[in-house]
Amino acid sequence: MKTILITGGAGFIGSHVVRRFVKKYPDYKIVNLDNLTYAGNLTNLRDIEKEPNYEFVKADITAGELMKALFKKYRFDGVIHLAAESHVDRSISSPMEFIYANIVGTVNLLNAARLIWEDFSGKRFYHISTDEVYGSLGSTGLFTEDTAYDPRSPYSASKASSDHLVRAYNHTYGMPTVISNCSNNYGPFQFPEKLIPLAIHNIKNNKLIPVYGKGENIRDWLYVEDHANAIDLIFHEGKIAETYNIGGQNEWKNIDLIRQLCEIMDKKLKRSAGMSSNLITFVKDRAGHDLRYAIDSTKIQNELGWKPGLQFAEGLEKTVSWYLANEEWMKNVTSGDYQKYYDHQYGKR
Ligand code: NAD
Ligand code: DAU
Repeated sequence: MKTILITGGAGFIGSHVVRRFVKKYPDYKIVNLDNLTYAGNLTNLRDIEKEPNYEFVKADITAGELMKALFKKYRFDGVIHLAAESHVDRSISSPMEFIYANIVGTVNLLNAARLIWEDFSGKRFYHISTDEVYGSLGSTGLFTEDTAYDPRSPYSASKASSDHLVRAYNHTYGMPTVISNCSNNYGPFQFPEKLIPLAIHNIKNNKLIPVYGKGENIRDWLYVEDHANAIDLIFHEGKIAETYNIGGQNEWKNIDLIRQLCEIMDKKLKRSAGMSSNLITFVKDRAGHDLRYAIDSTKIQNELGWKPGLQFAEGLEKTVSWYLANEEWMKNVTSGDYQKYYDHQYGKR
């Protein structure tokens, strides 16, 4: 039996990856390591928590000696590393947490893997990263795997650093690494600090929908299960030392996305047409706001046969339905410190 470590498995994308691996690979033992920050939530995994091939370990990846001890104890055969501070706005107000979790945390895991993997055969360290490392595009062009790194926020700079370190461990020590860089994910279990769940939550509660600047920034959106599927493929079939870009070929200006979301919400909540869009409010722009991200995912499509499965309209509809059916989940994650965060983030905008 192989033992696979998934870090950040209580978060948004991680919980989808953990669930997929636990269900699909009963011969793997899946260890989910997460320190349950505000973004980590074990209720995301309630349906699989009793499975015999699943174990949760609460631990902080910034604790280097603890990581070494856990790697010695479990003798992981593979690592899928998702744990990170993930929200750009928080990185602007508190950059240091991103340096510790995203850079130091990644190096701690690499060191711990190096310690127990004397023989690298059959081993794999898979680092999950973002398209934001490539910087910002103008109105044309796409990020390919060869695009030069040009991170522009503390978040993307910390992710770029971790990508470089992962590649350095491959080059220097022969560590069997692979990296993927993905565009914006959306879907169930996403914390309502990110645009789509935040807008759904606000519309539901008749609160203003804060749109940064003029809403003209463009993101490429991918349904989270399509990302989890790509992660599964890359973990099993991706080539060591390679990078794979993952994207939805689904670019939206923020304001157009929000308008579409408002239409869906009007229908679902049986409100009259236009009611939700009245909540749209243009607010002070994000500092250093990247204009456009767009991914060329030809490589993963051609080499591994991956493609996005869900059309955006269907994905958005599914996402809205999930949030409306899971009010309790939303209530839990927005109690406690969320209001403080929200007031700090939006109060003066
Ligand atoms: P998230 O914020 O929802 O979840 C992050 C998880 O990591 C949480 O469960 C949190 O508790 C855990 N974590 C944070 N710091 C930790 C630490 N020091 N020790 C242990 N656990 C820690 O993030 P997400 O959106 O699910 O993103 C997961 C990964 O995918 C990140 O590496 C992110 O950079 C990357 N990514 C995200 C997107 C996206 O659109 N959300 C796109 C591309 C790449
Ligand atoms: O591109 C991949 C990245 O996508 C991931 O690496 C990050 O972890 C993830 O958070 C996401 O980053 P973004 O900054 O693009 O996502 P966010 O949902 O925060 O914002 C999406 C767009 O919406 C962005 O242009 C900023 C804008 N926005 C966001 C919020 C929270 C608003 O206009 N208003 C808001 O209140």
